[in-house]
Amino acid sequence: MKIAIIGLGFVGLPLASVLASKGNNVVAIDIDNDKCIKIRNGVSPFFEPDLEKTLRIGLKKKLMVSNNFSLIKDCDIIIVAVGTPQKSNGAIELSIIKNAITTIGKILGKSKNNPIVLIKSTVIPGTMQNVILPILEKNSGKKAGKDFGLISNPEFLQESSAVKDTKFPHVVVLGGYQTKYMKKVKNFFAKFHPHTPIIITNHQTAEMIKYANNSFLATKISFINQLANLCQNVPGANIDDIAKTIGFDPRIGKSFLNAGPGYGGSCLPKDMKALINFAGEIGIKPTLLNAVEKTNQKQMEYIIQLIKKILGKITSKRITILGTAFKPNTDDIRDSIAIELIKKLLKKKAHITVHDPKAIKNTKKVFGEKIDYAKSIADALSKSQCVIIMTHWKQYEKLNNNSIKHMDKKFIIDCRRILAKKELRAEYHAIGMGKRK
Ligand code: UGA
Repeated sequence: MKIAIIGLGFVGLPLASVLASKGNNVVAIDIDNDKCIKIRNGVSPFFEPDLEKTLRIGLKKKLMVSNNFSLIKDCDIIIVAVGTPQKSNGAIELSIIKNAITTIGKILGKSKNNPIVLIKSTVIPGTMQNVILPILEKNSGKKAGKDFGLISNPEFLQESSAVKDTKFPHVVVLGGYQTKYMKKVKNFFAKFHPHTPIIITNHQTAEMIKYANNSFLATKISFINQLANLCQNVPGANIDDIAKTIGFDPRIGKSFLNAGPGYGGSCLPKDMKALINFAGEIGIKPTLLNAVEKTNQKQMEYIIQLIKKILGKITSKRITILGTAFKPNTDDIRDSIAIELIKKLLKKKAHITVHDPKAIKNTKKVFGEKIDYAKSIADALSKSQCVIIMTHWKQYEKLNNNSIKHMDKKFIIDCRRILAKKELRAEYHAIGMGKRK
């Protein structure tokens, strides 16, 4: 089988690398030629654990990387993993996927092959049926289900464990009609992931599953964050003990109950907004989803209130932010709560110094000269009047009394409770922990 992957972002590149590293014949396509050159040289455009290692193994085998779409013409499977970014009203922007599908359709029209097109990009229910299928049929002059297969295949990988999740997904979802193409794809995935459940359903359900998944995760986070804020006002209460304990209940489960500054990243906030917008379009009031989103926005306001309570005025204060990546083990700052917080603090004229083990380059693209960038944690804390731990990087667990000795004022706001068990000579506030008795 020859496999094409269209779009070499956070989903496409790990997938192309993993498939090629396992000996598959893979053609990886992206319209950005500079990106393709980098990838061909074994360099990932973003940081993701184990990705470059896997990519390089793939490149030594049968991985071809190019911006030339025509290379897909003799492929058996064409996997589309391009972005569906957010529009200002919360809806998803389909122009990128429409362009990719139009090009694929034209190439399909000239090919003698009967390939299967898999859509991994996150799209609102109905998009396959109403947008993607008509574009493909019109531009190829061929019929879906007869001349080529068309299958929804939502992705559930997490950034920071993309390679692992690509190798060992918890589920594979295949949406579409029960054709010979569906059988072929099912066999392909059953061989690739022998221990993973495969769910076969229709397009609309597959599209909805993706939003159900992400919106449920967001709900868990907003739930625990709201309880964390309650705990903070209950002397001695500790949100982590609560999360751990309720997590033992198999009906609840232990993951995604880590209280913090709110959910960020390129997926949960975007997918929540898209689902809320979609609900509105079909005349449903998504009361719960709205509350989840509002709770998430309020979480940052809550942190700002805490800073004000501790520092009095924010103007002219030296504030250190530890962690700008939206979570550890990534350099991705898209929709990172830390970045939004810095923007708000700058508006209040604070002096900001940031530290992040991987995301400084991306952070500089947003703030340029407006803030200071520290190379070490010690530099970041020197003369600081308040430090806010935003991202749970392992390095920050080592902070101790020695690390904070050059702080001007020893105020710590720990949004991830990394230092909760340490005896620090500082005024320590942690999201979700009432004052120690
Ligand atoms: C998310 C989903 O977890 C993936 O399953 C999905 O495939 C992906 O979106 C996507 O749609 O592409 P990701 O964006 O990589 O993955 O990030 P998460 O690990 O879900 O974290 C999102 C945010 O929630 C981060 O800001 C993180 O700090 C926060 N979070 C997560 C918490 O505050 N508490 C938790 O317990 C878990």
